[in-house]
Amino acid sequence: MAVFCGAKGNKFLFTNEYKLVTSWWPKSMKKVFIFQNSDTNFKQVSALKRSFHHDILKPEALKQYLPVMDVLSREHLEREWTPNAVVKVFPLSKKYTFELACRIFLGVVDLEVIKRLVDPFTLANEGVFSVPIDLPGTAYNRAIKGGKVVRQELMKIIKDRRKELMEKNNTERTDLLSKMLIATNENGQFYSEMQISNNIIGLLVASFDTTSSAVTSVLNYIAELPDIYKEVLKEQLEIAKSKGPDELLTWEDIEKMKYSWNVARESLRLMPPAQGSFRETITEFTYAGFTIPKGWKTFWTVHSSHKNPEYFPEPEKFDPSRFEGSGPPPYTFVPFGGGPRMCPGKEYARLQVLVFMHNVVRRFKLEKVIPNEKVVFHGSAKPVHGLPVRLHPHRK
Ligand code: HEM
Repeated sequence: MAVFCGAKGNKFLFTNEYKLVTSWWPKSMKKVFIFQNSDTNFKQVSALKRSFHHDILKPEALKQYLPVMDVLSREHLEREWTPNAVVKVFPLSKKYTFELACRIFLGVVDLEVIKRLVDPFTLANEGVFSVPIDLPGTAYNRAIKGGKVVRQELMKIIKDRRKELMEKNNTERTDLLSKMLIATNENGQFYSEMQISNNIIGLLVASFDTTSSAVTSVLNYIAELPDIYKEVLKEQLEIAKSKGPDELLTWEDIEKMKYSWNVARESLRLMPPAQGSFRETITEFTYAGFTIPKGWKTFWTVHSSHKNPEYFPEPEKFDPSRFEGSGPPPYTFVPFGGGPRMCPGKEYARLQVLVFMHNVVRRFKLEKVIPNEKVVFHGSAKPVHGLPVRLHPHRK
């Protein structure tokens, strides 16, 4: 495998998609989540994926999901945060992220059904980045078993929904699953349940750890740096003051969260949820004097530009002002990748993070319980103790 580094390496891989390289994932990862030997043809899945990604993840659709995100984050904070003096941010943000994805992607709100999905999904997700030895007792083995249960549970949901859609012709459902079930391919055929399942799982996998890690990193810095917290709070209170107490956030409010988004971007620079991504070479080529044969794998790396003092002076310093004005040079800040494969969930993640920040800082000041808690990069950035914080509610 050839590892590409720095802005030049990023640019090379991002701009040569489909020309010299193409997306690639290890077989061991696909084995955990994807239905094997199904009628699924990967090209068709990709076509379905791309058309829906564009549909569900573009601003018009996201505007529809914004109130859902706001309501759920308020409910989540009332239920899981407010009754406690200390909370663990990482496991809770995973819970919130998964519930939100279940509502938006699947139209599922029943906590029992969500629980039947989340436990096996967590096992699968935790073991997918381990050494792929499928023997009893290994993390990979647990991942394989978890993946199987996720597929079974998802299949039940898909079949029930198909029945519901057939019985009630005119449904108001706006979730992705319902839209996929009534869509047809270029030959006018409906997509199979396995194809739909594989796609939904793809979205759950791509969004779960990444977005929960992003929410956690932002709250980590807000808890650690009082000046940053103060500025974020100021911006969010301005927005809150312009609305009634129960009025939900609008797209215009999100657009006003400029400082908060710079704080989130600086958190993504220092603790990127994705460490890079794989490609496979489709033809032999030469880069920086090295010949890379056809069929080799490549990897672009996020830290090699995020931590480079040439692009980010004093790279370890948390400084959201780096993103003011024209911001960092192209191909240097790449938490979501770049080029045709750039993360299609970028805006979804931006909304989720900003909505959560808004609701948290308006209610609490946070204090880290473990000041220098270690963060490990296992897939995403993860605080080893889950980031426990003491909550100081604002006086009413
Ligand atoms: C902060 C949160 C997130 C980060 C940092 C992130 C980052 C990334 C990165 C680095 C890639 C790989 C790009 C490449 O191959 O070069 C990617 C791909 C992808 N992401 Fe995200 N992501 C996030 C959230 C999401 C969300 C919320 C969704 C869905 C709602 C999503 C859906 C996807 C999909 C489907 C792909 C594969 C795209 C393709 O191969 O064409 N991501 N993401």
